[in-house]
Amino acid sequence: MRIVLLGPPGAGKGTQADLLRKRLEVPVLSSGDLLREAVRRGDPVGQEASRYMESGALVPDDVVVGLILERLRSIGPSQSFVLDGFPRTEHQARVLEERLAGEGQAPIDVVVDFQMEEEKVVERLAGRRICGACGTVYHLRTLRPARADRCDRCGGRLEVREDDRPETIRRRLAVYREQTEPLLEHYEQQGKLRRLSGEMEIEAQYQALIDLLHREGLR
Ligand code: AP5
Repeated sequence: MRIVLLGPPGAGKGTQADLLRKRLEVPVLSSGDLLREAVRRGDPVGQEASRYMESGALVPDDVVVGLILERLRSIGPSQSFVLDGFPRTEHQARVLEERLAGEGQAPIDVVVDFQMEEEKVVERLAGRRICGACGTVYHLRTLRPARADRCDRCGGRLEVREDDRPETIRRRLAVYREQTEPLLEHYEQQGKLRRLSGEMEIEAQYQALIDLLHREGLR
């Protein structure tokens, strides 16, 4: 099954994608993670992307599309995958559809929109910590590391994400409303859009997601 996870910042896309990866062993392609890796490497793509990401703006379509399409090459024509945070604009969605169709690949089956009230996003993201070395995500209240400032997985230092400052979160929310919400209509018209609350506990959200995917035909 080919799944797209959509929703505002902090709605749990990355967390749920990670659970699907671990429990269903399905490959996950996260545009945010790919961009942050490029920023950490300091290569030209990362240097260009960081200017946009730090301000809360979307990175230009051609940069993101290039990264995702490159990763898609390693995926078989009917292999399952989860896309986290991509596509984010109608243009990205159309390029993805053309690429899959052009290569005789299976299309996207279902698009899950995690919904969350904007006021709750700022509060939730204030507690996020991310490992500066391996990128593992924690939350000071809901997904606590054993030690407050160290990654359980690799011992790296836990940091506040550069774009998790309240003013940048508000910008990201505005960008989401203006540039990504119109994409919901695109998938609604295709009959692929399903909605789930992003405000449940992490495990409850995962169970609701799995139930939904079973209803959509996941075996
Ligand atoms: P990206 O990394 O994709 O950021 P985002 O979409 O703003 O989403 P977040 O990562 O903030 O939230 P999430 O929904 O994944 O929540 P998470 O599971 O981490 O993108 C960052 C930037 O890269 C963009 O602003 C843009 O510049 C650029 N970019 C990325 N993709 C792009 C694209 N396609 N086109 C152009 N530019 C692009 O959870 C958040 C926190 O809450 C965590 O601490 C987690 O532990 C906790 N948590 C999760 N679920 C729950 C729950 N149910 N209950 C309680 N706590 C929870």
